[in-house]
Amino acid sequence: MQFIDLKTQYRRIQPSVDARIHNVLEHGAYVMGPEVTELEQVLAKYCGTKHCVSVASGTDALMIALMALDIGPGDEVITAPFTFFASAEVIALVGATPVFVDVDPRTYNLDPAQLQVAITPRTRAIMPVSLYGQCADFDVINDIACRNNLPVIEDAAQSFGATYKGRKSCALSLIGATSFFPSKPLGAYGDGGALFTEDDALAKVMREIRLHGQDRRYHHPRLGLTGRLDSIQAAVLLAKMEIFDDEVAARIRLGARYSELLAAAFADRPAMIRIPFVEAFNTCVYAQYTIEVEQREIFETRMKALGVPTAVHYPLPLHLQPVFAHLGLREGRYPVSESAARRVVSLPMHPYLTEEQQERVVAAVREAVG
Ligand SMILES: Cc1ncc(COP(=O)(O)O)c(C=O)c1O
Repeated sequence: MQFIDLKTQYRRIQPSVDARIHNVLEHGAYVMGPEVTELEQVLAKYCGTKHCVSVASGTDALMIALMALDIGPGDEVITAPFTFFASAEVIALVGATPVFVDVDPRTYNLDPAQLQVAITPRTRAIMPVSLYGQCADFDVINDIACRNNLPVIEDAAQSFGATYKGRKSCALSLIGATSFFPSKPLGAYGDGGALFTEDDALAKVMREIRLHGQDRRYHHPRLGLTGRLDSIQAAVLLAKMEIFDDEVAARIRLGARYSELLAAAFADRPAMIRIPFVEAFNTCVYAQYTIEVEQREIFETRMKALGVPTAVHYPLPLHLQPVFAHLGLREGRYPVSESAARRVVSLPMHPYLTEEQQERVVAAVREAVG
């Protein structure tokens, strides 16, 4: 059994992927080719936003968003401590200081109840993460941001395709930033990412930053990056968008089924395991299907022996990462994130998981928990 099965997906879309890649090889516009523009139109329509700016990775997407908002040294940006490293890395890379707000223990997303007290005169943006494929509570977060006159950037690297109160992830705040890393719900065959906004001026600036800050050929009003998405990756993503609705439906169905099977398997001992919680107003695309167990190391060893791969997303919260030691944020500062980091473990999850495989995983979980 594989943790994520990308080959089965490739077999399904092979004619379209192969033809589209072949087309790029033939026309030769490997950078900023017609596939890039076509993909941006498809993605903007999908999310319901006016603009989509494709970029080279999810990390570049977040970084370009911060650069477009002119965030730099002396500024603070608020994010969650329980997330992939890039969420805070980009804040530090632009010279600003990450300020953490602990997460809600049910959803692992930034707890809006703790947001207002973290805002200082130096705060320049709020960057909630929509972790594991479920959106943060954007109505509440946007409301607090609005009262403090702050922009909100959604780190939607894991939630592309998810909905919040019927609206698509990436379309929930001033800027949405996602990743097309191969294992993400919409994954390329290499790195990629995209930015979404309604704001014409911001979209223009973000387009310039991804192209070395150039507004016309060899004319640079600002600094930027080599931040473009390759035409070949855009071609792959166009082929994947043909089946994306179907894959999202499969993720939602399989996620719900995992939860039902696990609840039934642990009906006699529900305290032994924590099953994912999805808010009634959300749909979750399960970039990861993540449970909590005690004695995780033993659990993972047993799962491996039973032939079921697992992974930990993420074992060390960002305030305890060595590179952020200078922030002086000691253990105990963000207890929910620290507790989650000790207990979370992700199970195999992808749209091509069979019911029989799911049953095998759940039986193994039951045995491994002991
Ligand atoms: C929450 C989160 N933010 C940012 C990123 C960065 O995306 P990328 O790997 O495409 O740079 C990732 C993905 O790895 C992520 O999971």
